[in-house]
Amino acid sequence: MEKPKVYVTRMIPKAGIELLRTVADVEVNPDDRPLSRAELLNAVSECHGVIGLLTEKIDAEFFDAAPRLKGYANYAVGYDNIDVAEATRRGIPVSNTPGVLTDATAECAWALLFAAARRVVESDRVMRSGSWSGWGPLQFIGAGVRGKTLGIVGAGRIGTAMALMSRGFDMPVLYTSSSNRKNTVLEDRLGARLVPFDTLLAESDFISIHTPLTPATRHLFDAKAFSRMKRSAYLVNTARGPVIKEDDLVAALRAGEIAGAGLDVYEAEPAMADGLAGLDNAVVLPHVGSATIESRTDMATLAARNLAAMLAGQRPETCLNPQLFDRNNGTTA
Ligand code: DGY
Repeated sequence: MEKPKVYVTRMIPKAGIELLRTVADVEVNPDDRPLSRAELLNAVSECHGVIGLLTEKIDAEFFDAAPRLKGYANYAVGYDNIDVAEATRRGIPVSNTPGVLTDATAECAWALLFAAARRVVESDRVMRSGSWSGWGPLQFIGAGVRGKTLGIVGAGRIGTAMALMSRGFDMPVLYTSSSNRKNTVLEDRLGARLVPFDTLLAESDFISIHTPLTPATRHLFDAKAFSRMKRSAYLVNTARGPVIKEDDLVAALRAGEIAGAGLDVYEAEPAMADGLAGLDNAVVLPHVGSATIESRTDMATLAARNLAAMLAGQRPETCLNPQLFDRNNGTTA
């Protein structure tokens, strides 16, 4: 029997490709660059399955271009790039990669927090430039972390992991929840408090963003939010760029309205807002939150298992529209 055709829109760790090759005829974008929209739509036209990236819009136009599609697997946990309602309307299952990148992303948030608080990148630059004149009592003074208040915006998997990693630093933890539901892990293990957003802004010394991008969270952090934060506070974002209004952040950092920021994600990637690159109190990474060997490999194998299941008409492990299977004991009609 002929194998189904699968397209992978950018090279991913080979464990995922090898797994998929056992069940499908797999083609991978041969170039290490994102496809243009026209290239993407053309590449998927004969495909039964696709593994794609958070940078590609999976919408009605995409589904029209891939009339034989039986499943789409996102190589990311965030899925604001997918029109899930449209996929569901067309009976096409879609999946993401939750769980396998939780620790990697939480660790990256801590790397940013420390880098911003202790001025790591700024200091590194001075060493490399050869302009360091030797030890000085007032050089590169940053902020201590122990005992300071950590605010978690969006205490889902990654926000919870980030907060639990604060245990070595005895930090009081505040968190917000879009559903207003208590996070019993954080409350029981850390004595964390669920608070309104404004309270979190006013009381936190470090704020880490872990909420998905939705219409309600777009530009959640704008000039008004920055004006409510402590002038000594730091903001970390490893979630999605548009949760922050980046021009307002640049203005707040420039005016010293907040002390610093550590960013892994941007409003219009791969670009950054004008002025951000010139600010010493911002640490900027190129969206590498999940970039560990372990996470990226596990993302590849999870996406591959998900797609293999969808090609077989079965419910993938981490399905975004499970209702397509509910009526049918785990298989599509
Ligand atoms: C995700 O998975 O959503 C990250 O942004 C990339 O790994």
